[in-house]
Order: sequence, then C-alpha cells, then structure tokens
Amino acid sequence: MNINHLAIIVDGNGRWAKKRGLIRSEGHKAGAKNLEKLILYISRNKLANYLSLYVFSTENFARDEKEVNYLMELFLKWFKTVKDKYSKENIKILFSGNKDLLNREIVDAIKKLEENTKNNTGLVVNFCLSYGGREEITTMAKKISQKVLDGKINIEDINEKLVSENMYYELPDIDFLIRTSGENRISNFMLWQISYAEFYFPMTYFPDFDEKCLDEAIKEYQKRDRRFGKIK
Ligand code: FPP
Repeated sequence: MNINHLAIIVDGNGRWAKKRGLIRSEGHKAGAKNLEKLILYISRNKLANYLSLYVFSTENFARDEKEVNYLMELFLKWFKTVKDKYSKENIKILFSGNKDLLNREIVDAIKKLEENTKNNTGLVVNFCLSYGGREEITTMAKKISQKVLDGKINIEDINEKLVSENMYYELPDIDFLIRTSGENRISNFMLWQISYAEFYFPMTYFPDFDEKCLDEAIKEYQKRDRRFGKIK
C-alpha cells in the first residue's frame, strides 16, 4: 500500500531540549537537522509523492517573542541554504500559510524557493508555515464566493473538486499523518485534506524521530485496513 501523501506534525522539540537541560532553541536546531535528513530519506527512497510538514501554526505566533524570532531566523537560513540542494534532488517546494503574518525577507525566500523548484518532478514538499486549517478553509470560501459574485461560476458548480482546487494548493488527500511527541491532537492542521487519513502518534520527540522511526511508522501504516466508509 503506497503512501501518496504523507504528513508530519513536527512536535516535541522543546521537550527534547528540556530533557537534556538545553534551551528550547537547541531543540528547534536539532529538529531542523532531523527534518533535513528525513526529507532526503523520503525523497531518495520514494516513500511518498507528497510530504506536508506542519512547522509553524498561526497560533505559534503567540509564543515568546524570542522563540518566534529564533524560529523565523532558522527558517530563513534554512530556506536560503536548501535552495540548490533541493533542485538537485528534484524536490518541489510549496508553502501553505498566511504570508501577511510573515516578514518580507521570509516571504521573498519562500517565493524564490517555490520559483526555483517549480519545474521539479520528484517529491512535493508542502511547508505549512504561519498555517491554520480553518484559515485555509475560510480563504477558500472567500475565493469561491468572489468567483460567484464575478459571475465566473454558479452556486451549482460548487463541489468537492472545486473546493480542493481553491485551497492554498490543490493537494491530494492525506493518507498517513504522523504527529510526534505523544500528543494525540490535530491542532488545526489541513482539516479538509485529512478526512480519510490514518493517524499515528509516536511518543518520540521530533529530533529523535529518525529514519528508523519512520520505517516503523510506515510498517504500521501498511497494516491498516483502509475502508473509506465502505465494507470489504
Ligand atoms: C514543535 O515543537 C516545533 C515547532 C513549533 C517548530 C518546528 C520547527 C522545526 C522542525 C525546525 C525548523 C524547520 C525548518 C523548516 C527549518 P514544540 O516547540 O512545540 O515542542 P514542545 O511541544 O515540546 O514545546
């Protein structure tokens, strides 16, 4: 059973650091390093066609200013350095989220990365940054309403396909969602796209969720009986 769309809610960086007597930013640094390894592992072994990553929610802006600034710097540095590497790996990068809440430098780096990788045909990595699932749905509703008001479509034309097309990106349904760190929550992540996803909540903090852990997760996914509401 292949995974078309894999998603990871990155969680537990702070607790990983605390457990080691380190400051929270050390956990994010370790998380970023791990994420880089995992992306290459997924891409090179063709473990999925799409990979969505929840790295910063709109709610995360309410964290301590110093932590938010640290994370933004980390994202920025990372986006600048992975630009060439991802092109070589044939990885295509997308960003889902509210760009109005991000500073100019990050928005520019995001645009460049999307532009640089737009013709790549390998793994699609969708970074959910400054992201909220309800906000994505609200934005979609506004886009569709505008089309109706402009007379481009009729109310009768609104169907699930059209809704999908008007999300930040038209992405396939998520097949398998992993949230690390033992939290059993969705936290406003891709609410439209997770309708039939299989969930997996390992206890492992994200910086320790390595390739072996991912293999184990995928093995577990293979055992799931996906019925999509039907009876076999
Ligand atoms: C959740 O851990 C993690 C985040 C809010 C940030 C995710 C960031 C990274 C993996 C690093 C950078 C990524 C890129 C793309 C460079 P938490 O802080 O909520 O952990 P806690 O629940 O243990 O406090």
